[in-house]
Formats: sequence, structure tokens, C-alpha cells
Amino acid sequence: MSNTITEKSVYIGTTDEFLERVGRTVVIEGQSLAIFKTAEQIYALEDRSPHPKGGPLNEGIVSGHYVYDPLYDWKIDMRDGCVQAPDEGQVRTFPVLVEENKIYVTMR
Ligand code: FES
Repeated sequence: MSNTITEKSVYIGTTDEFLERVGRTVVIEGQSLAIFKTAEQIYALEDRSPHPKGGPLNEGIVSGHYVYDPLYDWKIDMRDGCVQAPDEGQVRTFPVLVEENKIYVTMR
């Protein structure tokens, strides 16, 4: 994960505009991202469940650095987007940088 602001970094708001453990959708360049804030970190994932039937990921339940998809009972590591066994798949993740309470997501 990159930890510097680049020309591809997009400002999405301040840290107090995001509630802890409540997913929120942000659209950048037509790409829907699910933003999750925990006590430790802010994560940006593609807002689409990797389950074959899809669905928005922002409704997931956050616990630690995992988001649980309640619809399909899948567990996804928000650090790398990997679906945990016995299920398989991966969600795209995007680097997040917080500078003076301002949140930037780097598109790639
Ligand atoms: S499809 Fe919405 S959280 Fe899983």
C-alpha cells in the first residue's frame, strides 16, 4: 500500500465524516468504493461483493480488519480484499492515506 499522496489520490472527506464500523459508498471516477473506518484504520474496497451473485459490500458488518457479508456469510480481510476460507475470491482494495484528518484514496 502506498502511503504518499500522488496525482491519483482523491480527497473523500475528513475522518469525522465517517462513522466507525459503518460502511459508506463513495464514487470516484465512476468506480463505487465501500469505505470502512475502524478505530485503527480506514479501508477502501470495491463496493461489490466477490460472491458470484454480487451485491453492495458497504452493508457488511465490520469486526477488526474483517468485513462480513451478511447476505452470503462471507468474511473478507479488508487489508488485502481476500475472502477467507472456505470461500474464495478477492475484492479490489485501494490505498488510503490520512493526513491531518483528511482522507485520500489512491485510484489504480
Ligand atoms: S451483498 Fe451486500 S454486504 Fe454482501
